[in-house]
Amino acid sequence: MSRDLFDGRTFDDFLFRPRLGRAGSRAKVRLASPFSKGLALELPIVSANMDSVTGADMARAMALEGGIGIVHRALSIEEQAREVERVKRSHGWIVEDPLRLPRGATIREAREATRRHGVTGLLIEEERGSGVLAGLLSKRDMPWDVGRDLELVERHMTPFDRLHVGRPGMSPDEATRILYEHRIEKLPVVDEGRRIRGLITKSDILLSRDRPDSTKDGKGRLRVGAAVGARGDYIQRAEALLAAGADALVVDIAHGHSEVMAEAMRELTRRFPSAELVAGNVGTAEGARFLRDLGAAAVKVGIGPGRGCRTRLETAAGVPQLQAVHEAWLALGDSVPIIADGGMRHDKDVVLALLCGASSVMLGSLLSGTDEAPGRVIEDPATREKRKIYRGMTSPQAVLDTHYGAGDEEDLERALETPSEGQEMQVPYRGSVRDVLHRIRGHLRSAVSYAGETSLGAARAVLLEHPEEFLVPLSAASRRESYER
Ligand code: XMP
Repeated sequence: MSRDLFDGRTFDDFLFRPRLGRAGSRAKVRLASPFSKGLALELPIVSANMDSVTGADMARAMALEGGIGIVHRALSIEEQAREVERVKRSHGWIVEDPLRLPRGATIREAREATRRHGVTGLLIEEERGSGVLAGLLSKRDMPWDVGRDLELVERHMTPFDRLHVGRPGMSPDEATRILYEHRIEKLPVVDEGRRIRGLITKSDILLSRDRPDSTKDGKGRLRVGAAVGARGDYIQRAEALLAAGADALVVDIAHGHSEVMAEAMRELTRRFPSAELVAGNVGTAEGARFLRDLGAAAVKVGIGPGRGCRTRLETAAGVPQLQAVHEAWLALGDSVPIIADGGMRHDKDVVLALLCGASSVMLGSLLSGTDEAPGRVIEDPATREKRKIYRGMTSPQAVLDTHYGAGDEEDLERALETPSEGQEMQVPYRGSVRDVLHRIRGHLRSAVSYAGETSLGAARAVLLEHPEEFLVPLSAASRRESYER
């Protein structure tokens, strides 16, 4: 019955009918939901394994906010494992690999670096790449007079012998005490040889204290996922990522309902029986059952809805995303969590995906353009508008980088023979992803309250039981009334 309601439908096809509100304070509305059979999230949002979306910085921010990030695989095995390690080692309150400039750098370089990365201070090292701490330059140490832009940073920094420093392995409480005692904002962490091991800032400490809902493992470390493919070096990659501490592996291929996937899942489950293996992508009930039967800990759904994606345009393959999500849920129920992947352009799309069967959503473009997404901020010299690059992983540029990055030449040739199904675009620069997640969280809570419930799980259960009573299909006129502003 509910299958017909969803046939050919996607996000802009429905509103939901508000019900008697019972959530007193929206801030108390719970959004907890499973990511996979073994992992739960307080904020059911996953950052996409794309090279313009998720590296260590994004994954760390996602986990701090209660979601999770999946580190992309357009990297060599060692590089990807290092990204995972950086998240696992960060604890959320210490920056493992802080920005640094050599003492011979100019104030102009320092100004540029602080602006580009949105930070308020830089560590100064003795020589470029030496990693030996020479001093600390905070924004307020820099001369206001731009005429002094060519002076060297060493002239303005606080030198090492006047700095308070921390030691590797110190606890957050110890760091807090030193920061408070000396009324300082930043505490560089160095080892016996004065080598830089991290940077603790007051703002990060306060932030991690304010985040009781962050996604952590049993040892208090932030959780992180990582992507692997289904061919080539995927077994070695999986092994290295698990050794680096990845909490979940996402076996991510364009056509997950395939023999290649079956073979890869069998091999991965045989070799790593206790690993949390998420698999995708599929767009049908048959595809979802197929992945469940292969033992997937979560099923990722989405064939072609993504913003950087041209699959439907080029091949006519795909299923409208809300239909695909609901169809997968009708096939699996709550036996295996469903991750709705792609096509969500507005926060209300996230709401609909979660109410119609997904347990979490994977976002690419909605999280792109942020500080934590890999890539530089580009400034238009004429308008001064700031932008970042967002690109589909099968866009020609990403394919080249992926295979050069991963160092697989045979694979590169095969990939270049296949016409592209992705595209690259510029998106507006949007500051910290924390603000974006804060906004989505607020809208999700508000939606649950309109749905007459106090938790996302309860709202979802009500809708899934009787979608035809709850959902309002839109006509062209009602769509205009709803969305045209
Ligand atoms: P959004 O809409 O959130 O989608 O930006 C993110 C998802 O898009 C998928 N993706 C692609 N799909 N060709 C595709 O067919 C591509 O080049 C491509 N790159 C990313 C992916 O599932 C991602 O999570």
